[in-house]
Amino acid sequence: MPVNICQQLNNANDLDKASYVSSLLSQMTLKEKIGQMSQFNNDDDNLERSIKMGNVGSVINEVNIDTINKLQSIATQESRLGIPLLIGRDVIHGFNVIFPIPLGQAAAWSTELVETCAKIAAIESSNNGINWTFAPMIDISRDPRWGRIAESLGEDPYLCSALGVAMVKGFQGKNLSDNTSIAACAKHFAGYGASESGRDYNTTNIPENELRNVYLPPFKAVADAGVSTFMASFSDLNGVPVTGNSWLLNDILRDEWSYNGLVVSDWESIPQLVTHGFCEDEKFAAFEACHAGIDMEMASKTYAVNLPLLIQESKISIKQIDTMVSRLLALKFDLGLFKNSFTDPNNREEHLNNAHLSIAKEAASKSCVLLKNNNQILPLCKTKISSMAVIGPLADDGYEQLGTWVFDANIDSSIACLQAIKNYVGDLVDVNYAKGLNTSRSNNQEGFKEATKIALTADVAVMIVGEEAILSGEAHCRSSINLPGCQEQLIDAIYKTGTPIVLVIMAGRPITLEKVLPNVDAVLFAWHPGTMGGPAITELLFGEACPSGKLPVTFPRNVGQIPLYYGQKNTGRPASDATFVDINSIEVRAPQTSLGMTSTHLDTHFSPLFPFGFGLSYTQFEYTNINVNMHSVSMGESVEISATLCNIGKIDAEEIVQLYIRDLVGSVTRPVKELKGFQRIYLSAGQSKNVVFNVHTDELAFYNRQMKLNTEPGLFNAWIGSNSATELKVGFGVILASE
Ligand code: GLC
Repeated sequence: MPVNICQQLNNANDLDKASYVSSLLSQMTLKEKIGQMSQFNNDDDNLERSIKMGNVGSVINEVNIDTINKLQSIATQESRLGIPLLIGRDVIHGFNVIFPIPLGQAAAWSTELVETCAKIAAIESSNNGINWTFAPMIDISRDPRWGRIAESLGEDPYLCSALGVAMVKGFQGKNLSDNTSIAACAKHFAGYGASESGRDYNTTNIPENELRNVYLPPFKAVADAGVSTFMASFSDLNGVPVTGNSWLLNDILRDEWSYNGLVVSDWESIPQLVTHGFCEDEKFAAFEACHAGIDMEMASKTYAVNLPLLIQESKISIKQIDTMVSRLLALKFDLGLFKNSFTDPNNREEHLNNAHLSIAKEAASKSCVLLKNNNQILPLCKTKISSMAVIGPLADDGYEQLGTWVFDANIDSSIACLQAIKNYVGDLVDVNYAKGLNTSRSNNQEGFKEATKIALTADVAVMIVGEEAILSGEAHCRSSINLPGCQEQLIDAIYKTGTPIVLVIMAGRPITLEKVLPNVDAVLFAWHPGTMGGPAITELLFGEACPSGKLPVTFPRNVGQIPLYYGQKNTGRPASDATFVDINSIEVRAPQTSLGMTSTHLDTHFSPLFPFGFGLSYTQFEYTNINVNMHSVSMGESVEISATLCNIGKIDAEEIVQLYIRDLVGSVTRPVKELKGFQRIYLSAGQSKNVVFNVHTDELAFYNRQMKLNTEPGLFNAWIGSNSATELKVGFGVILASE
């Protein structure tokens, strides 16, 4: 075989990235350049031949290491150029070891933990030949009907930005060319979470000011943090589908943000421009996508088919193509693929090793949120109960607890609650199990009899319910977010036995719990907790660990309240308890204007069932003495906001202390609260600590009517507390430096 172009370049003295890319580009034919812009699915009939012909820049969904090595060998040894492949896979919350779904990881409010989970996912997947993941998904999600809220990091731009950056750091490591680093991908740029009615792929209408102040900040944060790639969203954004949206992909991403990484389409989202009714045919779709700046096409072939003609017709220039292909080659250079694209099948750090599993258990433990704990029924004590009933369709199912996007999970290593509870209590407690329902969606109540029977003789019933994995994730949206099937009826049946109920909920979204809440003594919300969900939940139930998770998303009372999020605007007629009128208290023939006349529903209180940031502990924390170090802060300076936190309970525990700010008057209306800081603080029983946050006036900036990012002088309120409903408040003002 003659030495190919890349081998010649590799043999030359150590070229830097720019020289390497430009030298390679200068020797590529147009067909080969366009070939780099295509990502083939691994099941493509002509994959190997296409690679050999130089028509493939990336392969998605291949995870067999020997196959990957073979494909890389064809690309680097048998093609004219010898350009290695990007090997892409959705490594969303783990590879073989599965961590909690991203929404669950977000409930841990820990950048360190999120980074570590991503790092382990990168180790396991890169050992398998993967060098590109399509994560983090940083779509702000405020509609729990949307299945993809499970993949998100929640409703808040500040928390989503911090955790999204941590995930990128975990995946990409300190150097992208390290063997265990993989390229991350910020998705889905942008505004996908605003899909109307929570239906996936649906239309999004987002005013530019809202887009810039809410949906774009996490993407800007990861762009600034060096995320290697972006993925365009499927969605129609204000009438212009993102895949063909030059304003978003060029004016903002390239020009305003100076981002020069690779942008990949979503799965067949380029030909879908025709389906949107945005382009009359695939040739025009290829033009719009290329013009907008989609560097690589995922799964479909509109580029391969149409770009040559578009270039011949001078509708797309060679210069544009060279700019786009340069980004692809630069990423491959950064990943070190030109030097080595082979993955040693023997040099695999033992997957599923105890260290990885231990992190998975810690992540599951810290992501669980204690929503209710009446009379401190939790933690249970294995020496004080003699029998317990474990009931529910998700109690003994290591698969369902993994959640969505777990293509490569090692299911056998996933430990469900029932096994973990039995392992923990041993012979001390008589554990009886009844599934109650065949699946979480089942409406067949035949299993109720057995379930009630074991509950009647138990000291406590631990019920593990929620959503099977398939009910969350992409395209799995629900118009009701109650517990599916007749799980509510099962809980009611167990309630009627009089045995106390500890409810564990596994789900990929907030669940509306108003009906079941009064009938249970405790609720532990576990999301889909991943491989070590069983052991983590067991340790929390029995007090070996203390719940510390806080909600990264608001829990509504019912689906009719959606969208409901803490960072809402005040409106001109804000709801209040003083003006709230319950539907049952309205007099017959009440005069038209006699009711509250404020922004609320008649049939539901305006507050959430559980607010953003909410989560109980086995101890109690008290917040006092909030303070600012100056009441007038000059523009360009920082203000110190502090409060005293005291663990007034009997158990050592961690608390996630949250700082919220409100800009009381803005040239555009501002949210009634915005998260601007959080700290995970460990306090032993009785210990107290002065918790301090520093906020620079730049952190108070927002996009104004002129779409300029700017901090405006004026009055602000600050809160420090355990969730977004905290009332411990202090005021301060921002003044222009000259004042
Ligand atoms: C899917 C998803 C995207 C994913 C891609 C590859 O349709 O929208 O998040 O990364 O296709 O699987």
